[in-house]
Amino acid sequence: SPATRAGASAVPGENQPSSRDGWDARSVLCHRAAPVRLLYIAPEMAPFAKTGGLADVLGALPRQMHRLGHDVRVFLPAYAQIDRRKYRLRPLPGLGPVQIQLGSRRFSVGIASAILPGTDLEIYFVYSPELFSRSSIYTADGDEHLRFLVLSFAALEACRRLRFAPDVVHCHDWQTALVPLALKSSYARDPVLSRARSLLTIHNLQYQGIFPAQVLPETGLGRAAHLFHQDYLKQGHLSFLLHGVLYADGITTVSPRYSQEIQSPEHGAGLDPFLRMRKSTVVGILNGVDYDEWSPENDPFIPHAYGATDLSGKERNKAALLGALGLEYRRGTPVIGSVTRMVGQKGLDLLAGVLGRLLRRQSFQFVLLGSGEHHLEEMFGALQRTFPRQVCFYRGYSNELAHLIEAGADMFVMPSRYEPCGLNQLYSLRYGTVPIVHKTGGLADTVQLFNSRTGRGTGFPFDNHDAQGLTWGIQAALAHYKDPATWRKVMQNGMAQDFSWAVQAKQYEQLYERLQRL
Ligand code: ADP
Ligand code: GLC
Repeated sequence: SPATRAGASAVPGENQPSSRDGWDARSVLCHRAAPVRLLYIAPEMAPFAKTGGLADVLGALPRQMHRLGHDVRVFLPAYAQIDRRKYRLRPLPGLGPVQIQLGSRRFSVGIASAILPGTDLEIYFVYSPELFSRSSIYTADGDEHLRFLVLSFAALEACRRLRFAPDVVHCHDWQTALVPLALKSSYARDPVLSRARSLLTIHNLQYQGIFPAQVLPETGLGRAAHLFHQDYLKQGHLSFLLHGVLYADGITTVSPRYSQEIQSPEHGAGLDPFLRMRKSTVVGILNGVDYDEWSPENDPFIPHAYGATDLSGKERNKAALLGALGLEYRRGTPVIGSVTRMVGQKGLDLLAGVLGRLLRRQSFQFVLLGSGEHHLEEMFGALQRTFPRQVCFYRGYSNELAHLIEAGADMFVMPSRYEPCGLNQLYSLRYGTVPIVHKTGGLADTVQLFNSRTGRGTGFPFDNHDAQGLTWGIQAALAHYKDPATWRKVMQNGMAQDFSWAVQAKQYEQLYERLQRL
């Protein structure tokens, strides 16, 4: 276990090798063993607070790093949505309120902690009811930028108080994207933080955190105003993510394909010139899966366990799923499932149109769990009214039902316009629930077209994001489903894939080591 956990000071210069050179020498001598001090700052983390896949990644990657012996600290907001009793959140002893001055606003925040279930890893929560007791995790409120600046600065300030000197500060999405600039300006000479390297992971380039230029003094980085992108400011905008792209020592995206896509104008969301400028720094590392949480062999949320060698439980889960949703189970009728945030990214408008036409002609059922934009919810509400025996749209959020859909559906459809990684296709592969996906981003990296001649392939990716493309994907899957032996092969090919974090985390580990040598 790292020296810091054994009680030694985490601040270089006290009782550890004092210079960067000291550390480098150690990592060269005993490469595998050198523990890295890692600070994660993120807006979501499973199981505490989750809206999408970012939470799953934070729920797994720091845990994996902790398992590998690194010294890990994670900070997230103490949202009112977090079940404080269940997770036993407690104020951190000895650490009084942290003061943060952002322009004319002063915030006094507490730091609480809880143990990540199933581990002995302590997680820190930034407590500020004024900022984090809202009806949702993300808001469109006028102080949204302040909420996440307070998270970012509270994490850095708490590290100073705890005398925890991170080697790498790993930031996630726009909410924490000003941290690299803060480290290079306000904290450049700080005894605890000056040596930290920053890593920004872009989970979704479309969410950039763009605010009016007038908020600049409220970023707490007013003295570094010259380091902000001046043309953008003149145009009246301040983009958090842009500055992360400009100043982070390392940048990752959550799949290799997406790291390339976002360097093109089509997928670059206006940031592609900057990403191209920094292309030697941009690396795609595919997300992993936490198979402790997502495996049909030991999933507490599903009534019948099953595995690749005995698939009988899957059919029984299908009956249970349909029963739970009020649809009739008919042997031999395939069920297509989906679990998703209902936003433009996910291609649900295309899906509703295509399903409307296919359901008239072909025999299958469709179940959807999700919530989001009103017009998309309306579309699926209408589809359910038109096909009440074939379609069930469960509007809402339910982890339990998400697991049951993975286990009970035969196919899983993800017609995303773009998809930085996507986790549900990875869960689907493990559950033998054959993915039908648009060939984009992480979906393209993880699902291979099934070829009945060679018997290889795991699903049905389609090239063109249009009605013809998606119709082809669904029809190809439905056609193969009719032949049970072929279908079993597609399922088993998918179930044999391994996207575990144990593998993926190694790539982050290597990157953390490289960053320290910068
Ligand atoms: P994104 O992060 O873009 O939403 P991902 O595929 O990476 O997409 O991750 C989505 C995660 O959120 C998955 O774990 C999925 O099961 C979960 N999820 C999304 N919507 C719901 C919902 N309505 N109920 C339960 N889980 C959901
Ligand atoms: C984002 C992306 C999704 C990715 C997730 C976790 O929400 O939309 O594709 O899997 O982050 O990285």
